[in-house]
Amino acid sequence: MMDAFRIDGGTPLTGELRVHGSKNAALPMLALALLTDQPLVLNDVPALADIENMLKLLAELGCVSSRDVAGGLTLHTTDASESHARYEIVRTMRASICTLGPLLAARGRARVSLPGGCAIGERPVDLHLTGLRALGAHIELDAGDIVATAPRGGLVGSTVFLGGAFGSTVLGTANVMSAATLARGTTVIESAACEPEIVDVARALTAMGAKIEGAGSPRVTIHGVESLSGATHTVMPDRIEAGTLMIAGAITRGNITLSNCPLDALMAATDRLQAAGVSVEQVGNDDPWRARCTVSMKAGKDRPDPIQITTQPHPGFPTDLQAQFMSLACLARGNSVVTEKIFPERFLHAAELSRMGAQIARQAGTAVISGVDRLIGARVMASDLRASAGLVLAGLAAEGTTVVNRVYHLDRGYESLETRLASVGARIERVKGE
Ligand code: EPZ
Repeated sequence: MMDAFRIDGGTPLTGELRVHGSKNAALPMLALALLTDQPLVLNDVPALADIENMLKLLAELGCVSSRDVAGGLTLHTTDASESHARYEIVRTMRASICTLGPLLAARGRARVSLPGGCAIGERPVDLHLTGLRALGAHIELDAGDIVATAPRGGLVGSTVFLGGAFGSTVLGTANVMSAATLARGTTVIESAACEPEIVDVARALTAMGAKIEGAGSPRVTIHGVESLSGATHTVMPDRIEAGTLMIAGAITRGNITLSNCPLDALMAATDRLQAAGVSVEQVGNDDPWRARCTVSMKAGKDRPDPIQITTQPHPGFPTDLQAQFMSLACLARGNSVVTEKIFPERFLHAAELSRMGAQIARQAGTAVISGVDRLIGARVMASDLRASAGLVLAGLAAEGTTVVNRVYHLDRGYESLETRLASVGARIERVKGE
């Protein structure tokens, strides 16, 4: 039987939570261990199913890992003979594609099973391949696998354009950037993804001895080096977990304080929260990548104001917070419009929210949400991580009992979400689902 969350809604959440390390920064960062035969130590890697899967894959690729008592994760590549990321693992986790660039750069060859579609839509990897081909790789498809070979003498620096119909590609940028660190000469990635996770991956690479300029901007320049060494790096806090917890505070009309919160990477989200009538205030003047802040509905507001949201590449509004904001919009006083420009099919939560009494009309990549004054608990499920997070938020605010089924999706991206929410007053428990 699969786990579910049982939530008795309606309690305002109050208290303090520390934001965990970022899943989406950690995943491509773990693969960097393939680039060196020395130990890479990463702090604040969250304990998630996706991370475990990535470690399993790395183990098959000759990289051993261990966690120390303080939570530091050491990765050490001791055997470089195997370069095949098998379908059995790749199909459980698309981020396996992150091994492609590092394997190719360090071993001259890679065989990585082509990831399939997933619940949020078709997810091609053509841009990853364009980028690696520009560095001289020969790439072909064989029995569902991407088979890539570097030229004799290794990859060669080059100028690559990584923009696509939906903007740039986050993991594609990570793949090309990490491969280019060991290429001969200079690589310029134009239309690189500007996501903060790319900045963090570049920081880890720099600590390993890579020469990278411009990460976080659309043009990243990488000067190839002979070899990379081991390093120690602390993973940036998870901006999507932080945004989700902010909404948990707002939607329950509670008062949540977050520490280790990457406010600097959350401007689009906090802008939309302010527009909805939610106050997000930094406390003290810590580094804005690891800030302390409080979140609550503005004084005198009993319901959120309606909002317009369009998902975009960073620094625009992140697609990974779209579902959570939709739950907030369900309770707004008025009509909200949510447009999904990154994954236009990513609306699995909408029909489930309707089962809780939400009024949502969807057409292609846009949803119009007519706010209602209450949601009513129901049994719901969604086959995507962030959609499930949106349903948990709705359940926290709803009247009565909500059962969110199939929380294994949530467990892929949120470390012990139920215990954390319970620690700030939510009535939520893990139960056996249907
Ligand atoms: C990353 O996926 C994240 N995953 C996703 O988070 C996130 O939703 C996404 O970036 C967008 O921000 C990880 O970091 C592990 P993309 P990624 O390549 O890199 C199109 C979550 O919930 N595209 O930036 O795979 C693509 O179809 C997950 O934590 C191409 O056309 O996403 C999409 O429309 C879900 N060709 C857009 O670009 C390509 O070769 C952006 O995708 C690659 C992508």
